[in-house]
Amino acid sequence: MLNNLPKKVTIVEVGPRDGLQNEEIFVSTENKIEFINKLSESGISKIEITSFVHPKWTPQLSDSLEVAKRIKRKSNVEYTALLPNLKGLEKAIDSGLKEVAVFMSSSESHNKKNLNRTISESLKNIEEVVNVAKKNNINVRAYLSTVFGCPYEGYINFNSVKEIVLKLLDLGVYQVSLGDTIGIANPKQVRDFLNVLFEDIKEKNKLALHFHDTRGMALANSLIGLDMGITTFDSSLGGLGGCPYAPGATGNVATEDLVNMLHSMGIETGINLDKLVEINRFMEKVLGRVLPSKYSKTINATKRTNLN
Ligand code: HMG
Ligand code: MG
Repeated sequence: MLNNLPKKVTIVEVGPRDGLQNEEIFVSTENKIEFINKLSESGISKIEITSFVHPKWTPQLSDSLEVAKRIKRKSNVEYTALLPNLKGLEKAIDSGLKEVAVFMSSSESHNKKNLNRTISESLKNIEEVVNVAKKNNINVRAYLSTVFGCPYEGYINFNSVKEIVLKLLDLGVYQVSLGDTIGIANPKQVRDFLNVLFEDIKEKNKLALHFHDTRGMALANSLIGLDMGITTFDSSLGGLGGCPYAPGATGNVATEDLVNMLHSMGIETGINLDKLVEINRFMEKVLGRVLPSKYSKTINATKRTNLN
């Protein structure tokens, strides 16, 4: 193990979307914009800035269009947004995004709760989105949720999950991010599942990993993915986040913790870790609570006075 580590890894920062969609307080539009602008200055190359879903489903991101239009875009950063259908894509086009992310689940019950659709209806929606996105020169990434376990159905058969991953790639998404929505995966399961996928998917950059850290296993799971050749990982600044339609799910792996692990093993990300800690302090002030990132907690320990 650890003989095949890559030299460089791409981090997709999902804090402004996956993180803020699940915070109890509504983060003001100004603070969201400042958060994203600060992330743009940290060396992160891709940021998921918001989602264009029905505001009733994630009211915390109901200002998505304004956020997307008002952030300061840097030429060396790619900006993307999550969306479920053509209605969401219209807003992405309106805001000038060049990349979007679609999403669905590998379990019927979670798909129904999260999208009010069956798996086959979601695939149809995604096909429509990919077709229109392509005509508008927009790249499409996909998330597949609950691949390591569903809060309603338990473990899902690897081969049925693989079937959906292959369908998504056939539809024309450039990458599928495998979502451990409720943070239930373990390293052996990640290894076994990736081996099943690699039987049919030879280009490993078509896959990414998206670990929530509910049970503290996200770094261990990431390490297995890394050792097996995965080089794109999603994470949230500070460990913000969760999924409103997955009870008990907590935040993504913290970007600082993942970047610290990678850098300390000599793997490049292009990200300035000190800047991430500064952004963590900013977001702790905005949210009025200490965020889960272990790395930021350590660095902040001597400097913390109060949150205001
Ligand atoms: P629905 O109720 O079936 O929608 O919800 P509908 O098609 O029947 O339309 C109802 C109304 O919604 C209509 O408006 C539509 O125009 C409107 P009305 O005629 O009543 O005025 N509508 C929309 N409005 C704004 N934006 C849209 C949109 N689409 C339709 N895009 C729907 C279906 C998909 C809309 C809904 O289920 C939804 O918005 N779901 C989003 C749920 C969500 O955001 N979940 C969290 C993100 S997923 C996640 O966190 C997991 C991930 O991180 C990976 C992992 O961790 O595993 C990605
Ligand atoms: Mg997620």
